[in-house]
Amino acid sequence: MPLHEVFAPTKVAVITGAADGIGRAAAERYASLGMHLLLADIHGERLAALARELVPRAGQRVLTQVVDVARLAEVVALKELAYREFGRVDVLMNNAGTSQPNTAWGDLDAWRRIIEVNLWGVVHGIHAFTGAMVAQGTPALIINTGSKQGITNPPGNPAYNLSKAGVRSASETLQHELRNTPECRVSAHLLVPGYTYTGFTQRKSKPDGAWLPAEVIDYLLAALSRGSFYIICPDNEVSSAEDGRRMRWAAGDLSEDRPPLSRWHPDYQEAYKNS
Ligand SMILES: NC(=O)c1ccc[n+]([C@@H]2O[C@H](COP(=O)([O-])OP(=O)(O)OC[C@H]3O[C@@H](n4cnc5c(N)ncnc54)[C@H](O)[C@@H]3O)[C@@H](O)[C@H]2O)c1
Repeated sequence: MPLHEVFAPTKVAVITGAADGIGRAAAERYASLGMHLLLADIHGERLAALARELVPRAGQRVLTQVVDVARLAEVVALKELAYREFGRVDVLMNNAGTSQPNTAWGDLDAWRRIIEVNLWGVVHGIHAFTGAMVAQGTPALIINTGSKQGITNPPGNPAYNLSKAGVRSASETLQHELRNTPECRVSAHLLVPGYTYTGFTQRKSKPDGAWLPAEVIDYLLAALSRGSFYIICPDNEVSSAEDGRRMRWAAGDLSEDRPPLSRWHPDYQEAYKNS
């Protein structure tokens, strides 16, 4: 299937969290397609190193900007830079994310930072860019990076789960509003990576179960060609069928009057296994 029309020479992609992992893989792929890039990250050195490694074709431009997506003013400045330099944005990836240890009722600073980066970072991106992208009048994509943890809510990282549940909700309503905006040619999409070997995984070598970031981008581009909103990547451990079972079970906690997170509750192990 051909790529979505925005993935083409002279089109412009803005990526947050571009210096590493999935954002970096997106930058490399889009650069190979001849797109202009505006790459943003909080990590200036890694960002500069990436810009040096990407070899632009004649006429292709790669710009970088150090941005903390938790700060609205910095995200607005990123949007202004994009329109000043390129006059358009065809792909926006609100991808920057972070995590740190946290527990259900402790570590308030960790809760605040995770929510500020993962959820407010995406809200800031939507707020700063969407109006201008709609006004452009050309086909454009807003891709927000969520997580399976924002859907199935596993134990162990509650602040991260909450932040990614918020990303899912914000992305769903954004797409609904875009779809109902007359003449609008922008669509929103929720990218949900599976287990992916990146800075996030904090492992020295790739675990067998993990995908490489480039595989996530392959999956993303194929799903965007089909027009999918929910882009839920499998990995080498978890198939799409297993993801479906996990998501249906999580939704069933509400509709079947089970305890929350029943998938991890000893009383429900057998029922889940047989589901
Ligand atoms: N790796 C996985 O298994 C996995 C699974 C599901 C979802 N995700 C999500 O994918 C996205 C990308 O993560 P990754 O796995 O590539 O990790 P990564 O750590 O390799 O990349 C994240 C990038 O975001 C940047 N960043 C962090 N805080 C920032 C901030 N405040 N402002 C700007 N940039 C900031 C980091 O410097 C880094 O370059 C994240 O939203 C993450 O939650 C990852």
